[in-house]
Amino acid sequence: MTTSPFLQALRGVRGDTLPVWFMRQAGRSLPEYRRARAGTTMLESCLDPALAAELTCQPVRRHGVDAAVFFSDIMVPLKLAGVDVEIALGVGPVMGAPTRTDAEIAQLCGRGSGDQSVITDGVALTVRELGDTTPVLGFAGAPFTLAAYLVEGRPSRDHLAARTLMHANPAGWQRLANWCADVSVAFMKAQVAGGARAFQLFDSWAGSLSRADYAKYCAPSSRKVLRAAHDLGIPTIHFGVGTGCMLDLFSEDATAVGVDYRTDLRTAISVLRSVHSEPVIVQGNIDPAMLGCPPEVLEAHINTVITAGRNADAHILNLGHGVPKDTDPDVLTRLVARVHERTAND
Ligand code: CP3
Repeated sequence: MTTSPFLQALRGVRGDTLPVWFMRQAGRSLPEYRRARAGTTMLESCLDPALAAELTCQPVRRHGVDAAVFFSDIMVPLKLAGVDVEIALGVGPVMGAPTRTDAEIAQLCGRGSGDQSVITDGVALTVRELGDTTPVLGFAGAPFTLAAYLVEGRPSRDHLAARTLMHANPAGWQRLANWCADVSVAFMKAQVAGGARAFQLFDSWAGSLSRADYAKYCAPSSRKVLRAAHDLGIPTIHFGVGTGCMLDLFSEDATAVGVDYRTDLRTAISVLRSVHSEPVIVQGNIDPAMLGCPPEVLEAHINTVITAGRNADAHILNLGHGVPKDTDPDVLTRLVARVHERTAND
């Protein structure tokens, strides 16, 4: 049996300490990350197993977090499938051309998932370094989030073109979303083959959808990815931003729900309790803005989140979205130590 508090929480069990990790814990907030990445593009770094393993381990060594989220990107499976995509610094994912017409959708969906062995190798190298102490968390982008970039061709605020497509051409949309699910499943399986012990689905942009549109046009393909992980015996976390009105839908096929910082954690837990007989397991939801506040303000906020989390069967402490790039890394290190110290033998 594992003694990892993170994996225990995903079984609905409270371990000795409250597990904590951060979305985007590897990244520009760390000087050792900036040094290791110098001269290498984001996607090149993701496709270099030794570098990806090193970048995955950096925040574990520095902060002592309870999970090592594999260093990669939700765009990597698209790259491995041969899609013309780059990640532009300070901009985000940019495609060579948008995918909108039936012909463009057909061309994209004709692609297979490609060779994912660099991903398996990167995870395996990470597991070799971390051993049993810190589990590796695999992840993938949910079909709507991937499709939002593919249809738009670049980052957008309200994902208008993708939302138009789902209504204007439901069959084309379904084909696209299904293909995105397939590449995310391949990416998840490659990480599990390397030794990933849990899986997070980033449904980041689902909050730009109405509940009805999410349920009709996106939930089936997200479900496909979550069920594929479940079938491998891998616990899952389903995370979205601005998805407070659809947490019950998010919990349907997931072991745990990632709650963003806009949603009150206590309310989220009671909503989940009302729709579930299974253990309610939540992850979240420190407001990233609080990381820049005076220590006593941050501490009070964290205490509120921890107290709210006690209403769940198990709680994984995290931010309600990623680490901002100019975060002082010492704030994160102190936060982890403080949480472990405070919750030991709680
Ligand atoms: O530490 C971790 O969380 C693991 C690695 C990880 C990255 N991206 C690394 C990364 C994970 C899990 C992601 C997920 C991801 N990527 C999402 C979903 C999560 C979310 O933020 O909602 C999305 C939407 C993407 C697409 C993407 N990739 C964006 C919007 C950006 C930011 C572009 C920028 O420069 O601001 C990226 C790049 C990216 N992915 C970076 C990192 C560390 C920064 C690039 C760099 O350091 O050069």
